[in-house]
Amino acid sequence: MLIFKKVTDLQHYLNKQQAIIGFVPTMGALHNGHISLIKESKQKCSITVCSIFVNPTQFNDKKDFDKYPITIEQDILQLELAGCDVLFLPTVDEIYPDGIVIKKDYELGFIETVFEGAKRPGHFNGVCMVVERLLHIVNPNMLFLGQKDYQQCIVIKKLIELMHKTNDIKVIICATERETTGLAMSSRNERLDAISRDKAKIVYESFVALKQHITPQNSKLLIDAAKQDILNKGFTLIDYLSLANANTLEPVDVWDGKTDIAILFAGFIEGVRLIDNMILQ
Ligand code: PAF
Repeated sequence: MLIFKKVTDLQHYLNKQQAIIGFVPTMGALHNGHISLIKESKQKCSITVCSIFVNPTQFNDKKDFDKYPITIEQDILQLELAGCDVLFLPTVDEIYPDGIVIKKDYELGFIETVFEGAKRPGHFNGVCMVVERLLHIVNPNMLFLGQKDYQQCIVIKKLIELMHKTNDIKVIICATERETTGLAMSSRNERLDAISRDKAKIVYESFVALKQHITPQNSKLLIDAAKQDILNKGFTLIDYLSLANANTLEPVDVWDGKTDIAILFAGFIEGVRLIDNMILQ
């Protein structure tokens, strides 16, 4: 695997290749969720580029940024094993050569005002800043994103629309990788002790039960019951457990039985904020 730290070196290399470029942007602390994106890219593209950059502009909580795990040596090893072709490992100055000036002109609309957008002000703006810059640098044909960050996937699709790149960059959303208990893989799971990590499976168990039993008549009741169950089984706070239109993320109070919906969750266990989702079709 080639490793580039400078934008100019990476671009010089990529410009020489006649290749279908697949791109997997990450913030490192890689787990099997990320590796599944690399594998998917390798199947569909001739060169796979992964970036590792802990983007300071997307952390609305400075403590979260400070605590973000850095495991670069293991990350490189995992990428090598997965057969990743290129790792882009830039410094903050390479990504933000004019310094960190928060840009606020992304017309994301409604999507930015709900769920993660409401709970983490400025977060998606920061995601757009870094992804826009990375897409300009890498200029990929395909972009691989994990469904675990479902709202982020919708935001990035919207960003690509705003960049007028919809015909140039195909967005591939890959299924969430889960631990054997059902807990969605996340770098944040590392911050949980074994007991909480096991208890956190209640989120997935609740999704599965909801999917099995939900009807237009009982949707509100089941969501309320699932919230209570999640709190009884170890979570201390739920930011949201809601149904939403799977395309627009407009919250759905009572399901009409036809619309594709997403169940979206964010909550705290042992002081760690976890998110997850499931799509009901
Ligand atoms: O999902 C992530 O890891 C990040 O939000 C991303 C897309 C790499 C942008 O920093």
